Amino acid sequence: MKTYYVTTPIYYVNDVPHIGHAYTSLSCDVLARFKRLDGYDVMFLSGTDEHGQKVAKSAASAGVDPQTFTDGVSENFRGLLDTLNISNDDFIRTTEERHIKSCQALWNDLLKRGELYLGKYAGWYAVRDEAYYGEDELTEGTGGKKIAPSGAECEWVEEPSYFFKLSAWGDRLLKFYDENPDFILPHTRRNEVISFVKSGMRDLSVSRTAITWGVPVPNEPKHVMYVWLDALTNYITALGYPDTQAEKYKKHWPANVHMVGKDILRFHAVYWPAFLMAAGLESPKRVFAHGWWTNEGQKISKSLGNVIDPYELLQTYGLDQTRYFLMREVPFGNDGDFSRSAMIRRINSDLANGIGNLAQRSLSQIAKNCGGVVPKRGAFTEADQNLLGSAQGLLASVRQEMDVQAFHKALDRLWAVIAQADRYVDEQAPWALKKTDIARMETVLYVLAETLRYLGVLLLPFMPDSANALLDQLAVPAAERNFAYLTEKYALKSGTPLSAPQGIFPRYVEPVA
Ligand code: MSP
Repeated sequence: MKTYYVTTPIYYVNDVPHIGHAYTSLSCDVLARFKRLDGYDVMFLSGTDEHGQKVAKSAASAGVDPQTFTDGVSENFRGLLDTLNISNDDFIRTTEERHIKSCQALWNDLLKRGELYLGKYAGWYAVRDEAYYGEDELTEGTGGKKIAPSGAECEWVEEPSYFFKLSAWGDRLLKFYDENPDFILPHTRRNEVISFVKSGMRDLSVSRTAITWGVPVPNEPKHVMYVWLDALTNYITALGYPDTQAEKYKKHWPANVHMVGKDILRFHAVYWPAFLMAAGLESPKRVFAHGWWTNEGQKISKSLGNVIDPYELLQTYGLDQTRYFLMREVPFGNDGDFSRSAMIRRINSDLANGIGNLAQRSLSQIAKNCGGVVPKRGAFTEADQNLLGSAQGLLASVRQEMDVQAFHKALDRLWAVIAQADRYVDEQAPWALKKTDIARMETVLYVLAETLRYLGVLLLPFMPDSANALLDQLAVPAAERNFAYLTEKYALKSGTPLSAPQGIFPRYVEPVA
């Protein structure tokens, strides 16, 4: 069986979930659902990143011990996934025993292979990014503060530390990127990574002695692991590492896609493959770096008070509407701007007037004029065949877009067929045929219903509830709601009783203040 492994980053539990977390998780969910419907054995992993200085600090300011703190916040992230209808197969927490064992095993292996050595770190560290920076990367902020390229404030750190021999891996990484041109997508980001590696890398500090909230380094009571070494390892822990003969590991490693935001690409596309190669393990097949959302043109930040709460979006606009908007509005990989007006425009023009209206006008005519059953199909005209041909061609073209995570383009393809179907209804005018040629009217409505079946099944990954509601109204059996059934052989059967049509996508009307 074909397999597919997709992961979200594991989320820091220092914060409440916001639109950025929702976005990364949603994109993975759409991929996972698509691949399942396409016959793959899918493993979809999400979870929480619970160690490190940043989380320890948040716990301290909340006045609780880190374990109690992380137990609480981790639940919020699990809750967000449920609310967004995310279909992850596992949820990993880095404080779990299985993960601590896995990190320690990887550590021991790297040590045994001579990839780690004990030294002393003296340099800059940004707690917000949990990242080390070289002097040359920093700029001067107010009061002489050192600022990382991400905007995070840095502090000077001096401590005994283990190092990973990252400097030795530059050439092998460059060779790996060269041999795997689609390892990093989008390609613009790939170039950034390559120039970072080409500029020469220092060895990486991978243990800390100034903090205690982390995975203990084996046989070194004063050291805990650097939080990124700990965090990245989650992707193999969940497959049963260190048991590389475990069924899940054999089936799903290397991962097909690690989905990440652009801010954490370096960790995934440089450090992670270097750790893996050094341990003699395979590197993932792809890291996709998506862009960042701004809010009405402004950078999202807690201090500006403009953080977008995903729960509020769902409540105001609806779950599937929000899922659709996030996947459609911005070319995946680019930065994007969230605005209420753009959200409302998408809901009203693409959903209510687009797929919603097409379904409603087709199904209500069927209910009224065809006795509430799938209409009788006569011989197909060229116009009928054109529309059905486009619907049948969708799977191949949508699949191509999904294979490069071009969600917006996949949706464009679907909406092109919706537009074609709209033109078809206008041209065929089934309401006029009702008076002149009932048999032809039935065929036209049949063609529309069958086109809706294709659209409904292909919309399942994006808007599972609404697509299922549409397929319910077409009486498509649950077992036939996957891509193997998108052929003529499983076309709707004339005479099948249909339930009364119900609107799927209402227009959004701004509440009166
Ligand atoms: N814990 C690390 C990941 C470790 S993975 C081995 C981390 N966590 S995070 O919670 O800070 O970020 C999680 C994801 O949210 C990242 O992919 C990040 O890019 C994304 N986003 C955070 N703010 C965002 C926006 N404003 N817009 C889009 N995504 C953003 O990093």
